[in-house]
Amino acid sequence: MHQFKKLPIALDIANLSPNVTRDMVNNRNKAAELAHKSLRAGTCQGADFTGWLKPGEILTADEFAAIKACAEKLRERTDVLLVIGIGGSYLGARSVIEALADKPDSVVYAGQNISAHYIKRLRDQLMGKRVAINVISKSGTTTEPALAFRVMRDIVRGADAAEYIVATTDANRGALLQLTEKEGIERFVVPDAIGGRYSVLSAVGLLPIAYAGVDVDKLVMGAVACADLCANADPNQNPALYYAIARNILYSQGYAIEMLANFEPRLHFVSEWWKQLYGESEGKENMALFPASVDFTTDLHSMGQYIQSGRRILAETFLIVEDGEPQVNIPKWDDNSDGLNYLVEGEFNSVDKVNAVAYKATAQAHREGGVPNMSVLLKRLDEESLGALIYFFEYACAISGLMMGVNPFDQPGVEAYKKIMFKMLGKPGFEGTAGESAPDYVSF
Ligand code: PA5
Repeated sequence: MHQFKKLPIALDIANLSPNVTRDMVNNRNKAAELAHKSLRAGTCQGADFTGWLKPGEILTADEFAAIKACAEKLRERTDVLLVIGIGGSYLGARSVIEALADKPDSVVYAGQNISAHYIKRLRDQLMGKRVAINVISKSGTTTEPALAFRVMRDIVRGADAAEYIVATTDANRGALLQLTEKEGIERFVVPDAIGGRYSVLSAVGLLPIAYAGVDVDKLVMGAVACADLCANADPNQNPALYYAIARNILYSQGYAIEMLANFEPRLHFVSEWWKQLYGESEGKENMALFPASVDFTTDLHSMGQYIQSGRRILAETFLIVEDGEPQVNIPKWDDNSDGLNYLVEGEFNSVDKVNAVAYKATAQAHREGGVPNMSVLLKRLDEESLGALIYFFEYACAISGLMMGVNPFDQPGVEAYKKIMFKMLGKPGFEGTAGESAPDYVSF
């Protein structure tokens, strides 16, 4: 078991070698240091969107208390919270809730797709329950959540319905803001200086997370502890710098994909959040590692063959929970008909111990198969570790993008499909020919 020092997260870099060594990381630090300094000085690209840098100062004490009070009030009066949002207005909250909440099902989600089947099933599921809605959209105009809010809103009924609807949106702009003003709906603010994918520790993430019963004070404390270390310009003292440099070296060696791999299903949405963070921040100017994710050992039985022996363009980052998992002992069978008694009689006599061995074996096999890998170790899966992890990935993402010369805080590419879709839908302001490409069917 790793001995953690100041942070409940650590990096295991053994399997990066020979692709990435400590010397190589230190030699590459000039570029990282420049990015680090410009980020902190507010002179980097996109500096207007670095409001997440000080996680303890995103909210005032009053704002923080108001979020917790609102979450508590809704928790007392309802059975379920419907979070309506997409991308950065959804993934951060879901990643923490799925990882840490005792009852993650007390929060459900809409507006993250346009599936009629999904919406219909969700409506059926919520009928007869006491439901609160938190509709989240910084712009206040994103189609998916706006549509979902329209079709789901009547799920909250009664003369006092407005008391069970909370909006999280921009302080000054957007259709959602106007709606809250018109109807007296309670409102929390998405800070101007924080983009969606960096917003989990603002009201965007904290209100649903608090509703789910997760300790938001500890979550922010974990992020603050990591932020303190990330002030250091030495990658040997700053895990985010180390990670950012390592993945940039791998990219420069021709690796095209970074897979985030967990061995714990409740980390699935942390990977989804991570993919958005890195994909939207770095995927610009025909560059960057493509962020992918796998859930092990499940995906070892579907993607394992490719990872071991397919095209050698994969690098891997394991996300590993070191301790604190429930101990589920393996029972002994007298007839040993399944051949598993060797586990019961040996050192690895519980499910978590077998899982830990599966991770070590996988990391070694993949290294030997030509997949350089590192591991982000979490001391245990709790608020402090996850808060630290969130900040670690955010800081590393900003550094990594800046090292590549892109603005890690914008996402102009996301507009392309919207413009075409709006023309096709006939949205006012997007008139003109839709330029729809003609289908060329192969029918059988
Ligand atoms: O990270 C981002 O900026 C995006 O993923 C947005 O969060 C997402 O598009 C939703 O935008 P909005 O919050 O304006 O509805």
